[in-house]
Amino acid sequence: MAMADPSWKAFLERIEHAESREELLRIEHELFGRKSGVMTLKMKELQAISPEERPKYAKELNTWKQKLSQALEEAAARLTIPADTVLASHDTLDVTLDLPERERGHLHPIQEFLRHVEEVFGRMGFDVATGPEVETEELNFTMLNIPESHPARDAQDTFWIKSAKKGKDRLVLRTHTSPVQIRYMRTHKPPFRAIFPGKVYRKDADATHSPMFHQFEGFMVGKDITLANMKAVMIAAITQLIPGEVEFRFRTGYFPFVEPGLELDVRWQGEDKTKEGDWLEIVGCGMVHPTVLRNGGLDPEEWQGFAFGFGADRMAMIRHQIPDIRSLFPGDVRFLRQF
Ligand code: PHE
Repeated sequence: MAMADPSWKAFLERIEHAESREELLRIEHELFGRKSGVMTLKMKELQAISPEERPKYAKELNTWKQKLSQALEEAAARLTIPADTVLASHDTLDVTLDLPERERGHLHPIQEFLRHVEEVFGRMGFDVATGPEVETEELNFTMLNIPESHPARDAQDTFWIKSAKKGKDRLVLRTHTSPVQIRYMRTHKPPFRAIFPGKVYRKDADATHSPMFHQFEGFMVGKDITLANMKAVMIAAITQLIPGEVEFRFRTGYFPFVEPGLELDVRWQGEDKTKEGDWLEIVGCGMVHPTVLRNGGLDPEEWQGFAFGFGADRMAMIRHQIPDIRSLFPGDVRFLRQF
């Protein structure tokens, strides 16, 4: 063969001493570049050699080709920068960086409590429905067996809406969530069980009364629902809603829309086992009055059920040990941040 052999050994040494991937790429190109690579050209020359001599040269070339290729691979591995070093050196992503904490809001304690209520009753199969806060006099009172002349209308200290509407269409800010019972009965087929959370309004203001407060009403209507079912549901719900040990006391109470009517008081121990005080009334309840069932479009000979109305704010106050209901509503974040 005419052409002098390039110094393959010199190439090998350069590869072994290469100090960067760029240098390595350059050597690789010098050797194996498609047009002018030294090895590429040598391989091409083989074709011009006589068939008798060719195998000898081919064998030697192939040996060098293999050696050099392998050396290139090894050097490439040696010069490959570990991934984490690449990240750090390019400053693209520093997973150790602490960003200033961004403040996140949370639900108001009352709303959070009502969601909890929906969950607890939801697990017992209760639907959730709501009604309007501006309600007709008829649904707020009359349909609930509270006739015009009845003293219960005064007892509720109603806010009346000034409007041209007269008679049964007169409007009030609802004084309780009970009108939703009628609305629900008129639009659903029994048997049913549902709760009705929401805002209600009465002209009251002191440490335990606010002119706007929250109730959640509920009822369960079927063919054979009794006070025993009511007691079981009330106790199951309250034990999940108030932390710590709770004692119960049912007393008879009067509400025109239930018969018999009961009031339920609770006394509880906080999680730290300290007595939290005296009996506190938190719910009015009883068997739905036959007149109310009839007003909702149900036949009281066929259907019966229990109803209850909880004071939600009071329960949230118990839960969070908040002494004054008036601190709940101004929206002062210094107060609200505590929960
Ligand atoms: N609506 C009554 C109230 O606001 C509570 C109640 C609801 C009582 C349902 C009995 C049954 O005081």
